[in-house]
Amino acid sequence: GRSYQYLLVEADGPVGIVRLNRPKVLNALCRALIEELADALGAFDRDPAIRCMVLTGNERAFAAGADIAEMAGKGLAEVTGDDLLGAWQRLWRIRKPVVAAVQGYCLGGGFELAMGCDLIVAGESAQFGQPEIKIGVIPGAGGTQRLTRVAGKYKAMEAVLTGRMIPAREAEAWGLVTKVVPDEQCLPEALRLARTIAGMPPLAVQMAKAAVLQAYETPLGAGLEFERRLFYSLFATEDQKEGMQAFLEKRSPQWKGR
Ligand code: CAA
Repeated sequence: GRSYQYLLVEADGPVGIVRLNRPKVLNALCRALIEELADALGAFDRDPAIRCMVLTGNERAFAAGADIAEMAGKGLAEVTGDDLLGAWQRLWRIRKPVVAAVQGYCLGGGFELAMGCDLIVAGESAQFGQPEIKIGVIPGAGGTQRLTRVAGKYKAMEAVLTGRMIPAREAEAWGLVTKVVPDEQCLPEALRLARTIAGMPPLAVQMAKAAVLQAYETPLGAGLEFERRLFYSLFATEDQKEGMQAFLEKRSPQWKGR
């Protein structure tokens, strides 16, 4: 595969691993990093050998936000004209599950990036937050929307209006993370979850992700209809036949991915 300036990318069997690698600035998410990240996750998303992805940072930071140095001097015409955060849209279109493994600072755009992942494993050192208000702006890559849908209005308002950091255990109580583990277990646990998901039938995995995400997009009736259609469509796959037959024959299924 290609090499990246701001990422370390490797495959561990069916699990694609992307490590944000701009440690001197706590993985500040400059535009080029987001472009690379969308390229790397997009390549895994299209690779039939990859079934799930893990996105991580380092012990000190998952990411401390968008790159303030890159944004500081820009005006309204430039940020709109260049569509400063436009590349982030590509991240929200990844179809395979992405597990975030978060240690240390997970702030601003870093938090928004984690919330755009499908599962979040947090080390005990993780600190989440939307500090944008302290530098004269607001979250711009989903924070006001995803945080509010997960934690509710009153928790989101406090986070977005004060910029306070939310430690891992509190984030867990808010429903913001899948689980909290000791720091040294953070990446291993994320990989364990990813391998479990990678062992599931891939078309059903993709439909399951799409169906859960649809819950954030539509009223209940439309979401239920969407789910039912995807459920029915899986009966056109060989893996549905195999999965149900294997259950009845009391043996393990062999997935074909079709
Ligand atoms: N952008 C650019 N550089 C950053 C950065 C960021 N978001 N966060 C940290 N850095 C840099 C620092 O400038 C510093 O660089 P130098 O060594 O060259 O001075 C280096 O990373 C280490 O950071 P600190 O010295 O500040 O480390 P600390 O331990 O004292 O503090 C911190 C850690 C509390 C996380 C602090 O760095 C901080 O507050 N960072 C900014 C957090 C922030 O405001 N994020 C939101 C960005 S806006 C955004 O994300 C918009 C959006 O919604 C998309």
